[in-house]
Amino acid sequence: MKLVIALGGSLIDFDEDYFERLKRFLKDLSKDHRIYVVVGGGEIARKYIDFGRKLGLKEEILDWIGIFATRLNAKLVSSILGANEEIPRSVEDAVKLDKGLVVMGGTTPGHSTDTVAAELAEKISADLLIIATDVDGIYDKDPKMHPDARLFGEVSVDKLQEICKKPWTRAGDKVIIDGPAVEVIKRSGFDVIVLNGKDLENLGRAIRREKFRGTKIRREG
Ligand code: UTP
Repeated sequence: MKLVIALGGSLIDFDEDYFERLKRFLKDLSKDHRIYVVVGGGEIARKYIDFGRKLGLKEEILDWIGIFATRLNAKLVSSILGANEEIPRSVEDAVKLDKGLVVMGGTTPGHSTDTVAAELAEKISADLLIIATDVDGIYDKDPKMHPDARLFGEVSVDKLQEICKKPWTRAGDKVIIDGPAVEVIKRSGFDVIVLNGKDLENLGRAIRREKFRGTKIRREG
């Protein structure tokens, strides 16, 4: 199976135990599957972007600063996993790296690593795109602000478009899945699941198509 995992930057939180477990998990998985991991910029990207914005830097520059932060995180993750030494700068370069486990970060301004992961999934005709984040999936409202938020087991792409609404607006924006990624998901054929990347047992169940906690994106209806 060909699998793309968008590893949200919020998961790069310097938790040694998590990285040990992630390493074992992905190494095991890469024995039987082809895996691409696209790493987000998280806190470090946001700090740099916010500071740059305060100093009046242009949005495109702020996106580039975000991209470098994602590549820094990608370098950390690929080194821990013993994957590719060079971090690919485009999805085309990632595909050229003929390896079982490939790690990359951002590519060009105007979107987040969700879009990179979706484009990569489209390019390799992936079976599954997993968006691994720090909440359990897609909710009807922000679960960090609203304890009564309801987790959707399934959500249609149209509903997702409604929830994510806007196209790309500005560097460092915090959205569940960014608008350009939803566009790619809408036109493509791969399955998409959003779940909590900290729970690797659950992630394993989702990959094996067993019952899991998270949100499946449905194309029709
Ligand atoms: P992220 O992919 O980390 O965005 O990119 P995010 O929505 O914060 O995702 P998580 O929460 O870490 O998973 C950080 C910023 O870097 C720029 C954008 O400004 C984005 O908001 N970026 C990233 C790009 O412009 N292009 C890319 O390909 C990737």
